[in-house]
Amino acid sequence: MNDNSDANTQTFTLMDNASGDQYVLPVLESSVGPRVIDVRKLYADTGCFTYDPGYTSTGSCESRITYIDGEEGVLLYRGYPIQDLAEHSDFAEVCYLLLYGDLPTSDQKAVFEHDVTYHTMLHEQVNMFFRGFRRDSHPMAIMCGVVGALSAFYHDSLDISDPRHRMIASFRMIAKIPTIAAQAYKYSIGQPFIPPQNNLSYSENFLHMMFATPAEDYAVSPILAKAMDRILILHADHEQNASTSTVRLAGSSGANPFACIAAGIASLWGPAHGGANEAVLNMLEKIGDVSKIDEYVKKAKDKDDPFRLMGFGHRVYKNFDPRAHVMRQTCHEVLDELGITDEPLLDLAIELERIALEDEYFVEKKLYPNVDFYSGIIFKAMGIPTSMFTVLFAVARTVGWIAQWNEMVEDPSQRIGRPRQLYLGEPERDYVMMSERK
Ligand code: ACO
Repeated sequence: MNDNSDANTQTFTLMDNASGDQYVLPVLESSVGPRVIDVRKLYADTGCFTYDPGYTSTGSCESRITYIDGEEGVLLYRGYPIQDLAEHSDFAEVCYLLLYGDLPTSDQKAVFEHDVTYHTMLHEQVNMFFRGFRRDSHPMAIMCGVVGALSAFYHDSLDISDPRHRMIASFRMIAKIPTIAAQAYKYSIGQPFIPPQNNLSYSENFLHMMFATPAEDYAVSPILAKAMDRILILHADHEQNASTSTVRLAGSSGANPFACIAAGIASLWGPAHGGANEAVLNMLEKIGDVSKIDEYVKKAKDKDDPFRLMGFGHRVYKNFDPRAHVMRQTCHEVLDELGITDEPLLDLAIELERIALEDEYFVEKKLYPNVDFYSGIIFKAMGIPTSMFTVLFAVARTVGWIAQWNEMVEDPSQRIGRPRQLYLGEPERDYVMMSERK
């Protein structure tokens, strides 16, 4: 493929060496970031598909929500650097920003918070729905099931062609997801559900629902609430990652938002994605002691060993993950607040981070600690059980999923997502009767 583009023409020319034919493809300009070759008519014009498993070179949609520059370690929500948002905004503001495109004024924020908190409770029948799960269910299994079931309870916000329905469904998802998450935890440990308190902030309310009991109230530490808010902000959206693309693909068929978010939660659960922070803690526990680090680093580098250092590497960030910087700092604030100075797993994590950052293999392959490396340590320090780590990621990402889903539904060029394939199976062959099969 030759780049024939200049400032005026903006095209790529594709040469078919077999036939000698040339095809000129339009090139689209991003507002920031790489240009995009428009291959929408490629099949019609050439009879060829593109092949890109893992979609490393494929843009699947137009979006105005999140921008990532993986080489430079840049992450912008609606143009604002993630570091500024983590420092100056709270999660409610970031939700507003992702949904509406601009930071809210104080009046807009007050109305938004009121509208969202109005929906924090779950229908009593949803509460009963929880009871159908085995008591030792993984909270992510409960999340997938309960969120998917919301479409059975909230029929009045399922018409995706109606902007008001979409807005109510969006508020419901953002408001109810912490309640569902906390209840999934309470259910798994056999404690009664703690209802939401709408006078608390988003993060305070979540921590309260997690840790209060009917027998004992829980005073939420402002430092921990701020740390939780930061974690939610840092995970709120991340462009077209696996779970967001899942939400969009599910939604492209016209499926309702609750079903789409449930699909996103299922995708997030995998250890290569949102399950990584849980996998980090499991890995640290398995390593067990600083003296064993070398052995595990060796395993991670061994091509014949499937073991990977969890919390290292990222598909997009190839220099550093800007979220990891903020998270590292938050991690130290939380440990100071909680007076944790002697946590063996933390010592292990710090040493692992040091060794991997100096190791030739990790340096050469640009494998840096990602956001999940630190978030797991923070959650553990806060007393959040490992099985809830990915659930918290889902709580944070729900606003991103719903913003991306809304953007997709409102896009007039939106079509059902339908990738093609490189077929390597049998060509057509004659049917063999059972009596003649060998
Ligand atoms: N430990 C050891 N080696 C690694 C690691 C790791 N964590 N990550 C990548 N590599 C190696 C691969 O073996 C591969 O080596 P090769 O070139 O010799 O074959 C090379 O680095 C490139 O790896 P890919 O898997 O091709 O990179 P990809 O972009 O597809 O994967 C991913 C990125 C999935 C995040 C990967 O780095 C990984 O599995 N990391 C551990 C899991 C993790 O922390 N996930 C969280 C991601 S962040 C998030 O979801 C918020």
